[in-house]
Amino acid sequence: MVRPLGFLVGLGFITALVFAIFTTPLSNEENIAHKFHEHPKHLKLASDGLLPHWDKQQLQRGMQVYKEVCSACHSLHLVAFRDIEALGYTPGQVKTFAKGFQVPSINPDTGELGDA
Ligand code: HEC
Repeated sequence: MVRPLGFLVGLGFITALVFAIFTTPLSNEENIAHKFHEHPKHLKLASDGLLPHWDKQQLQRGMQVYKEVCSACHSLHLVAFRDIEALGYTPGQVKTFAKGFQVPSINPDTGELGDA
């Protein structure tokens, strides 16, 4: 009569151990990164399908999501401001966007950082 009980207790311990091993908590940074990288929904994009093309509104919506969410952690420092005109923004809108950033000035003669 005692044996099955001992077996059940042992099984309980093993279950708890397996649970603990496979559900190791992530570090804070990993948790946050995972929160923002949940499985993306499959979107119906104009760039899919038989006649793929860029939909400027969809592109600009992506830019808005980048600005409001992703830019907290990811920079666009390898993208030139002029390049975002390709998303359908006017040069004036690009200038307004660029005004929100501070970039170091580069001396045109020496190529070094600092005032000309
Ligand atoms: C809280 C900070 C944070 C935010 C906000 C964030 N990311 Fe990330 N992202 C990370 C970190 C850290 C990594 C690298 C760790 C990793 O690969 O899981 C990463 C990696 C990535 C990768 C590479 C993933 C891979 O599987 O190689 C992509 C793509 C990405 N992020 C896109 C985005 C997009 C799009 C957004 C906005 C919707 C976003 N991230 C918002 C922190 C963030």
